[in-house]
Amino acid sequence: MGPGVLAELLKELPFREDPRLLVGHEQSDDAGVYILSDETAIVQTIDFFTPIVNDPYDFGRIAAANALSDVYAMGGTPITAMNIVCFPVKHLDLHYLKEILKGGLNKIHEAGAVLVGGHSIEDEEIKYGLSVTGIVHPNKVITNSGARPNDALILTKPIGTGILATGLKGGIITEDDMFEAIEWMAALNKEASEIMQDYSVSACTDITGFGLIGHTLEMARASSVTIEISASLVPFYPKAYELASMGIIPAGTYSNKSFCEKLVAIDPSLDKIMLDILTDPQTSGGLLISVKEPEAELMVEKLKSRGLIYSSIIGKVKKQSEFSIIISP
Ligand code: CO
Ligand code: CO
Ligand code: CO
Repeated sequence: MGPGVLAELLKELPFREDPRLLVGHEQSDDAGVYILSDETAIVQTIDFFTPIVNDPYDFGRIAAANALSDVYAMGGTPITAMNIVCFPVKHLDLHYLKEILKGGLNKIHEAGAVLVGGHSIEDEEIKYGLSVTGIVHPNKVITNSGARPNDALILTKPIGTGILATGLKGGIITEDDMFEAIEWMAALNKEASEIMQDYSVSACTDITGFGLIGHTLEMARASSVTIEISASLVPFYPKAYELASMGIIPAGTYSNKSFCEKLVAIDPSLDKIMLDILTDPQTSGGLLISVKEPEAELMVEKLKSRGLIYSSIIGKVKKQSEFSIIISP
């Protein structure tokens, strides 16, 4: 469903106010945060989807990394996870499901969390994901609404995975052609999340279904700022550019584009293919981090030294003006 559909529907329903609810459904943030004590809040999130790669183990890893990511985006530590499974039991060997679960478990354990259960139903189409609970200190929650003018924006993974997955589905590329993207999608945002907590970070979100521009737009609006993105600084997969040039673009790109249209100023000289990449829906993308500008270079160096080699400063935060986002070439 398009951006904010659930939030729109919920607006019309009566819901209970609770002062312990630090981040709730009204904010378009990554996860909900609920205060348990002065020291501890829980961070809760859920995410599941249909396979985007053919290998079931890789799909499991990616889906789990993607679900865990919302906890990391808020500066939290995952502690428990539950499997969500839809599977065509009558048509597909259970070994396939076992591989998905094995991939998911691998990531849950890498996150230092434990699997506490799950729920499965029979369905025509495979879907897998996790419900994740994490913890965070109530004073250390990082939301997408705190970005300050003069901050720099850092992105920690390349983009273009939606285009690659579309090419794979269409049989235009193989999994070998997107090996690197598969590894990045399966990579946790744990390291990036831990590193950012050592810097003057004002806002963070992870890049998923709304694409880089969509999630940046959410951050800009929630923070009441304008964000300028320099397209040439954004890391992306060269193969995705190739496919986009051939018109291989996921359907979600079009809804992401129309959702952004009125709020984004695009430099007329911007490469049209690059715009497809900037609005490409991502799976298990990197963190988008707003940090005090003087610290940004150091933080990128730190991220790179810990293996996040594509980390880049991709833009800056400005005082709010007519458009929420400005995309320069
Ligand atoms: Co998110
Ligand atoms: Co999510
Ligand atoms: Co149940």
